[in-house]
Amino acid sequence: MMCEEAKYKGPSILVEAVTKEVPECRRKEVRVLDVAAGTGLVGVALAQKGFTNLDALEPSECMLELLRSKNLYTSTFHEYVGQGHTNVPQGCYDVVFVVGGMGNNHIPFTGVLEFVRFAKPGGLVMICMRQDEEDYLTKLKEYMNSLEEQQLWKKVKKVL
Ligand SMILES: C[S@@+](CC[C@H](N)C(=O)[O-])C[C@H]1O[C@@H](n2cnc3c(N)ncnc32)[C@H](O)[C@@H]1O
Repeated sequence: MMCEEAKYKGPSILVEAVTKEVPECRRKEVRVLDVAAGTGLVGVALAQKGFTNLDALEPSECMLELLRSKNLYTSTFHEYVGQGHTNVPQGCYDVVFVVGGMGNNHIPFTGVLEFVRFAKPGGLVMICMRQDEEDYLTKLKEYMNSLEEQQLWKKVKKVL
C-alpha cells in the first residue's frame, strides 16, 4: 500500500501546478472543482496549501463516502463526466482539475468540453494523466485542438 501510494505522483504534480498558478492570498476565495475526485486525496493536499473552497465530482458512491468523511469539500456531485450534461453549475469555477480520471476506462476524451463548461471565463482547466494510452491521447489532443479552433478555450501550458 505504501509503495503504491509512493508511486502515484498525480496528486503532488497537480498540487505543485495549482499552487504555482494561485498565490497564497487568493487560495481561500478561488472556487475549485476536483473532477473524478476519488477519495479526496488531492483535496487533502490542496487544503494543506490553504485552499478552502473545494467541490468534487465522483461517480463511485463508495469513494464519495470516504471523500465526504474528510469534510473538506463544500458540494459533491455524484455523477459521471461524458454521459451527457451533469448537474454541475456552468461557469462557476476558477480552477477545474482532474487527476488520474482521464483514460480509456474512465472519462471519455470528449469530457473536456464539460470541463470548459464548468470553468469561469478565464478559469483554468488542468489535466494530470498517464501518457501510455496512445490512442486515447491522440484523440484527446485532436479534440482539445478542435476546441481551441472553436475558441472555446486556449492552451496555456504543458507542464511535463
Ligand atoms: C485513479 S482514480 C483518481 C482519483 C483521484 N483523482 C486521485 O488522484 O486520488 C480515477 C477516478 O476516476 C473516476 N471516474 C471514472 N470514470 C469517470 C467518469 N466518467 N467521470 C468522472 N469520474 C470518473 C473513478 O471513479 C475514480 O475515482
